[in-house]
Amino acid sequence: MERFEKVVPRKGTRSVKWDMAKDLYQDKDVLPMWVADMDFETPRAVTEALKERVEHGIFGYTIPDDLVKKEITQWLENRHRWEIHADWISYSPGVIPSLHMIIQSLTEIGDHILIQTPVYPPFYSVIKDHGRHVVKNPLYLNEERYNIDFDDFEKKIKENQVTMFILCNPHNPVGRVWSKEELERMMDICLKHDVKVVADEIHADLIYKGNVHIPIASLSKEAANQTITCLSPTKTFNLAGLQASYLVIPNDSDKKKVDHHFKNQGMMMLNTLGVTAMEAAYRHGEEWLDHLNTVLESHRDYVIHRFHSETSSIRVLPAEGTYLLWMDCRELGMTQSELKSFMQKEAKVGLNDGASFGVEGEGFMRLNIAAPKSIIEEGVSRMVKAVQDKEK
Ligand SMILES: Cc1ncc(COP(=O)(O)O)c(C=O)c1O
Repeated sequence: MERFEKVVPRKGTRSVKWDMAKDLYQDKDVLPMWVADMDFETPRAVTEALKERVEHGIFGYTIPDDLVKKEITQWLENRHRWEIHADWISYSPGVIPSLHMIIQSLTEIGDHILIQTPVYPPFYSVIKDHGRHVVKNPLYLNEERYNIDFDDFEKKIKENQVTMFILCNPHNPVGRVWSKEELERMMDICLKHDVKVVADEIHADLIYKGNVHIPIASLSKEAANQTITCLSPTKTFNLAGLQASYLVIPNDSDKKKVDHHFKNQGMMMLNTLGVTAMEAAYRHGEEWLDHLNTVLESHRDYVIHRFHSETSSIRVLPAEGTYLLWMDCRELGMTQSELKSFMQKEAKVGLNDGASFGVEGEGFMRLNIAAPKSIIEEGVSRMVKAVQDKEK
């Protein structure tokens, strides 16, 4: 059987996606298509490396050594044409912990931090939790594509004396892979007003044909110096539970501050199996990833085709990257709570509530398409039928 068609039961594995769905959606029959992990097995080479490491039987303190850094630098060079120095790398259990650490070490209480909404919900809390203020540069929808309002971007920076900007590229939930021109315009404004750029590029490897992921720090020497990039193999290779990620910080002074903060919080190491998985995934995972991206792309096209040919009130935006689809359900004419209840109780699918990404997400829902085709077909059929009944 094709490796991306195999259905691996996840219930009972302490899976957030599958084992929390019953409580979250108050229905045991809801099909979970929410949180951002995949229902695909990680590449075989990663499982084999983990097995071998587990067989060793000793799980003492572990250092990610130069071999791991070599895999990371090669990966970034091969996949993203970004040449970095190994000593720009720091490690972190996850991108969310990194955002907490970066904000605490490079901004002050009361500072203003800019985000582009709708956006991944923790972007709000990592700012607010530390007494900083959220400044929004809302994205706007033109036909089927979200765009940046650059005038508003600069105006908000000037008006609020913004000190940091958290970029999401590729963007969760709207699926944009920002173009070189868009990145350059944002970077120019940030350099002009001395705004630190934090680039959350966790979805960098999940890119569809016709699009190229450009790390914003790779634009120029000045851009590199202004940017802290957060990356990880966890979305790419379905390793989120192993909690291993890294940061790339070319600016030596910023790196020292961030590293110091991690150390102060007692976070100086990665978990043993996370290190093994990261190394194996980057060393052996390229061919698997290319295959994954073609599968995801065919799922994206399938979902769009079904909704657009069989319903008139749901438009699905053609994501350029990520395995997350942003569904415009506004034509259904429901309030957000009616929409959530409709998806849950009538369609029996567990999606992410669009409004959790900010008020700009009202009328939208987020769908995860990283599952075997049979699961995607089942979920889409449930939604299409429920919408058709509504449209009658
Ligand atoms: C944009 C973005 N950043 C960060 C994360 C989570 O990262 P981590 O699990 O490494 O904390 C996610 C997960 O969905 C995400 O979509």
